[in-house]
Amino acid sequence: MTEKDFIPKPYSSALEKGSFTWSSPSNIALVKYWGKKENQIPANPSISFTLDACKTTTELKFSKKSNSCNYSFDIFLEGEKKDDFKPKIETFFKRIEVYLPFLKDYHFVIETSNTFPHSSGIASSASGMSALALCLMSVEKELNNKSEEYFMQKASFLARLGSGSACRSLEGDLIVWGKHNEIPNSSDLFGVKYPFKIHKNFKNYHDTILLVDKGEKQVSSTIGHNLMHNHPYAKQRFEQAHDNLSKLKSVFKEGNLNEFIAIVESEALTLHAMMMTSMPYFILMKPNTMEIINKIWKFRQETGLHLCFTLDAGANVHLLYPEKEAEDVFKLINNELVAYCQNGHYICDRIGFGAKKVK
Ligand code: PMV
Repeated sequence: MTEKDFIPKPYSSALEKGSFTWSSPSNIALVKYWGKKENQIPANPSISFTLDACKTTTELKFSKKSNSCNYSFDIFLEGEKKDDFKPKIETFFKRIEVYLPFLKDYHFVIETSNTFPHSSGIASSASGMSALALCLMSVEKELNNKSEEYFMQKASFLARLGSGSACRSLEGDLIVWGKHNEIPNSSDLFGVKYPFKIHKNFKNYHDTILLVDKGEKQVSSTIGHNLMHNHPYAKQRFEQAHDNLSKLKSVFKEGNLNEFIAIVESEALTLHAMMMTSMPYFILMKPNTMEIINKIWKFRQETGLHLCFTLDAGANVHLLYPEKEAEDVFKLINNELVAYCQNGHYICDRIGFGAKKVK
């Protein structure tokens, strides 16, 4: 597949108005994407668990307008008009218009809501952009019916142009994005399902998100990605991501949780090490992020259980652990870790299976 394969031939059907609703989850990367080339092409391959509870539901209403001069849309979050979201959506529309040439033919009303609070410090871009991309693909499907495989690939391709990691949210439970020699059909253009067998240890894997800091990030992901250009350690980092993905293959096959922990925690800390060694440098972890990490290491040493952490581009901590150890981990969260969460807030999530069409 190349980018050109997603440019449609002139549409064969006409469509006046309608509406589609999709709900799409967030995802958490195990091997991180940090650094990109032009057109949202990742500098290295990444792999993520699709989440289940943290999701965005988006209804897209569309009606044909008399001219096709401009984009015309209104956007609402939880029922409230959000004009401040408009520039982001407009940029997204500009990027994808060549692939969806009907965008200027309709007025759109986008109504979106999240299962997690907007100000939780959890980025809604992955779930939000993938839900919107799926709604837009449902419109295209009415105009020119193509295969289910094409639908999902193109939806992921479009979501990527909205926010890179969004392309990993459409399906589950483990998604690879970025070309990797040992993963057949992996692509820089869209996410694909991890094609090999996954050991039962990873079924129902938990992700409890400890909300350490709900504030706006001081440095956006866009700026962070750009700082990987001319970064002194970029080359080694991108090679390391390829190696870690290769190593995860046998981990997923054999269910080796200790090896899983070593790779995942190293990836999280490497991501933040890249931030700290950028020029300008920055730190997104907070003191409570470190407190939690130390508690996790102590807990592991004392119990021999397989709780580990990963981090996004922020201060919140994702606790990853197998289903059969959940009860012991819940005790740790409630007895000790909750004290480090802002207002005691955390979100219980687990591995999920991707987006769903609601209507
Ligand atoms: O999708 P973006 O541009 O917001 O970048 C996300 C980057 C990380 O969340 C830090 C890592 C990842 O692979 O999801």
